[in-house]
Amino acid sequence: MEKHKQIAPATGKLGILTPGMGAVATTFIAGVIAARKGIGQPIGSLTQMGRIRVGKRTEHRQPLIKEFVPLSTLDQVVFGGWDIFDDNVYEAASHAKVLDQPLLDKLQPELSQIKPMSAVFDSRYIRNITGPNVKTGSSKMDLAEQLMADIRNFKAQNNCERLVMVWCASTEAYIESGDVHATLATFEQGLRDNHPDIAPSQIYAYAALKCGVPFANGAPNLTCDIPAMVELSQLTKVAIGGKDFKTGQTLMKTVVAPGLNARALGVRGWFSTNILGNRDGEVLDAPENFRTKEVSKGNVLDGIFNSELQPELYGELYHKIRINYYPPHGDNKESWDNIDIFGWLGYHMQIKINFLCRDSILAAPIVLDLALFLDLAQRSGLYGIQEWLSFYFKAPQTMPGLPAEHDIFKQLSKLENTLRYLMGEDLITHLGQDYYEEFNEQFNANVEVSA
Ligand SMILES: NC(=O)c1ccc[n+]([C@@H]2O[C@H](COP(=O)([O-])OP(=O)(O)OC[C@H]3O[C@@H](n4cnc5c(N)ncnc54)[C@H](O)[C@@H]3O)[C@@H](O)[C@H]2O)c1
Repeated sequence: MEKHKQIAPATGKLGILTPGMGAVATTFIAGVIAARKGIGQPIGSLTQMGRIRVGKRTEHRQPLIKEFVPLSTLDQVVFGGWDIFDDNVYEAASHAKVLDQPLLDKLQPELSQIKPMSAVFDSRYIRNITGPNVKTGSSKMDLAEQLMADIRNFKAQNNCERLVMVWCASTEAYIESGDVHATLATFEQGLRDNHPDIAPSQIYAYAALKCGVPFANGAPNLTCDIPAMVELSQLTKVAIGGKDFKTGQTLMKTVVAPGLNARALGVRGWFSTNILGNRDGEVLDAPENFRTKEVSKGNVLDGIFNSELQPELYGELYHKIRINYYPPHGDNKESWDNIDIFGWLGYHMQIKINFLCRDSILAAPIVLDLALFLDLAQRSGLYGIQEWLSFYFKAPQTMPGLPAEHDIFKQLSKLENTLRYLMGEDLITHLGQDYYEEFNEQFNANVEVSA
């Protein structure tokens, strides 16, 4: 197979910018620096630890993904971002209490150098927190221009060849796409008019795309999944992806649900509850912010259990999600799932999952992979919606009218085949008949010889 396109080499420095420098972003930054120093391993990151099969099974070619496709190395990465608090990354990571203090202390010289730029913030979208490090401006367009100036300054000061942006800030209040989001023209007018339905995350995404910087949304808020932003990404030929990092409970859901569906087992109910005590949990304690999360988590099962195609198995499925703020647990989220399933002749069974996870430990490698893969997409000439990155998202963004794929195994195949496609390798269908055709032919030839 011919190589898809020339992929520009990953030379020079890659700046990774995160709006939001809280638990996830600081765990990501500290982890990359720890890996760089050889005092930690980037476990959970496909770009760093994952392998990909290339060619036939008999060829035994399974290179590391980072050796198969040209990605920036961890040594080439520099970090920046924005937050409403002005703590540097060492202070913010110490506050988040995800990583042990002795580890953070070893990284202090690097982490304390990284200081957040002042944020674009609107308390109508997040009312449970306030902070001092916030921009003021005459309009939302003025704020967008200030962000563009930050992006350009960061790039020049850090001598970066390319940048990517990954939203790691708090979940904003639930809004639906409206007239102001419908076209780039209405959106830009809305920025000039201070339209209330333009959320801060949309202002960051707009600024990124205008500067040619790929953008991924790690939270469930409406950001780059509006027509105006898709239009801008096509116009500027910039890669976008979203939304909501697939970690913890939803990760388990999209592992278990495809298995039940694969065996045509019925599901009558799926009750999911979580307790968590970090700042994310505090923000999600507000009903309008929880609603945003509920919608993004809620669609996951619909995509796997299709009640219209298989009403006898999934027609009565009752799916309920709860998130409760419980400070003593900190970042160590605990989730429970009760799944009521039924099998042969309708006999009832139950599955219980109790996942004691660490939210930011699961999210940090996703930030790294998204940043490196978005940069690869950009260097490969892929732009607009990057559906092949759905593997990382709870609510994958797709082209209008195209249903999202939630099954994590299909998402992984999509991702791997995209990498093979970019590198001009054969796509893998897992059909495998060719091995048996050869095997049987050989058998028949031997039979003829001995007859
Ligand atoms: N940890 C996970 O497993 C996981 C999974 C999926 C999604 N997420 C999402 O990732 C995001 C980050 O999670 P976290 O645990 O790091 O939360 P966090 O509260 O620790 O960090 C978020 C940071 O964003 C800052 N912030 C809020 N609004 C901002 C703005 N407009 N501009 C710049 N900064 C702003 C806050 O001050 C805070 O420091 C959340 O939206 C969360 O829902 C996390």
